[in-house]
Amino acid sequence: MSGFSAGWLTLREPYDRRARNGDVLKAVAARFRDESSIAVVDLGCGTGSTLRAISSHLPAQQTWRLVDNDLSLLAHAAGLARPPKMTVAARTVDLARDLELALDGPADLVTTSALLDLVSQDWLDRLAIESAARRLPVYAALTYQGEVELAPTDPFDDAIIAAVNRHQHSDKGFGPALGPDAVEKSIKAFEKVGYDVSQGPSDWVFAQHDHKIQIEILDGWACAARETGMLSAGRIDNWLARRRQHVDAECSTMSIGHVDIFAAPRS
Ligand SMILES: C[S@@+](CC[C@H](N)C(=O)[O-])C[C@H]1O[C@@H](n2cnc3c(N)ncnc32)[C@H](O)[C@@H]1O
Repeated sequence: MSGFSAGWLTLREPYDRRARNGDVLKAVAARFRDESSIAVVDLGCGTGSTLRAISSHLPAQQTWRLVDNDLSLLAHAAGLARPPKMTVAARTVDLARDLELALDGPADLVTTSALLDLVSQDWLDRLAIESAARRLPVYAALTYQGEVELAPTDPFDDAIIAAVNRHQHSDKGFGPALGPDAVEKSIKAFEKVGYDVSQGPSDWVFAQHDHKIQIEILDGWACAARETGMLSAGRIDNWLARRRQHVDAECSTMSIGHVDIFAAPRS
């Protein structure tokens, strides 16, 4: 188990899809515009949200290799209906250990979403080097970049977000995680191996009526803040109670900074 439930991934999927940066996705589509077929490797696929979000932007004949280390998420992804011209294979791989295994085999494009903030600098460098060795473009969507706007504001918000951003650096199975530094580090890592990188914001935006996802996120942040030991449990609980009241009263909005990148070898 990875700690990412199908329920959570399903809840966030429509917000992720809406947040994806249109210009970055256009750059991905343009790269393959003249091809009749494409083979894609999706790293950390979860339930397959990247496939669902971008397949209509790619050549009609598609082969997807969906990679994750969570068997139940992979089963979910592999079991979903798909168009006749699409072939999908699910592969169980521990990407921390066997990234190269995941990349080996037919591939024209590497995709990933909501993964790069979980990985370490070493793993990110490995991804850039191994992709470059195979001349594979990489579309990495929805990387958290650490900037959060909450309304109405609360005097304790900044302390909580600082603790959350500290927690984001804890090990998620790949070594010390890049967390909010992942966007900047990814751009640098791909430029270092001779790639051109397009980037654009893909912020999550939650309106007053988006109760469920706001509550999930606030609960998650309170839990992460507690785990850091940076703040007293009582102050965290009080903050959470105040923020939940705003959600219940339908006056809470949130914007959570993310960035999409498309990194492609210079031709
Ligand atoms: C935040 S979720 C994103 C899932 C999906 N890409 C999406 O956007 O909905 C991170 C995914 O990475 C997978 N993952 C985490 N560590 C992994 C590892 N060591 N090897 C393979 N997959 C891993 C998790 O199982 C999960 O599906």
